Amino acid sequence: MTLKPIILHPDPRLKKVCAPVSGVSSDLGKLAEDMLQTMYDAPGIGLAAPQVGVMQRLFVMDCVKGQDEAPRPMVLINPEVTWASDEQHTYEEGCLSIPEHYAEVTRPAKVRMAWTGLDNLRHEEEFDGLWATCAQHEFDHLNGRLFIDYLGPIKRQLITRRMEKLKRERARG
Ligand code: NI
Repeated sequence: MTLKPIILHPDPRLKKVCAPVSGVSSDLGKLAEDMLQTMYDAPGIGLAAPQVGVMQRLFVMDCVKGQDEAPRPMVLINPEVTWASDEQHTYEEGCLSIPEHYAEVTRPAKVRMAWTGLDNLRHEEEFDGLWATCAQHEFDHLNGRLFIDYLGPIKRQLITRRMEKLKRERARG
């Protein structure tokens, strides 16, 4: 397994609509394994392919909390939202591409998603709580949308300027 470098905001690759995955191959399985490893290492609960520079519609997530529970690594290929609840939920979100910045985002409290798994079968499941928030956040990445796009322009610009500064500092070493 290989840890992948995570692309930081602002970057044009994080603003693009990703292309559907054409088929489940062994290369795709390797990519999904690498993405899960990168996500756990970060650590994070979700990671979308464009965040590692792959402009295809897949993401990984595992929102199991606590050391006592078994991990539940999930790989969602070509996901679709098939239903969203009217009930909304506000959660403080972060993003591995926008480290150390958090903000409250309101989204449907529950969603159903359909996707293709690494088994090449179509799956459908209803998510709630943190899983629902995470699944929608990662799904947004596939459409070039970040959680800061839900914020007002002043807060979004502030975070973007701080990220530009962080990237300049990292580039300098
Ligand atoms: Ni994110």
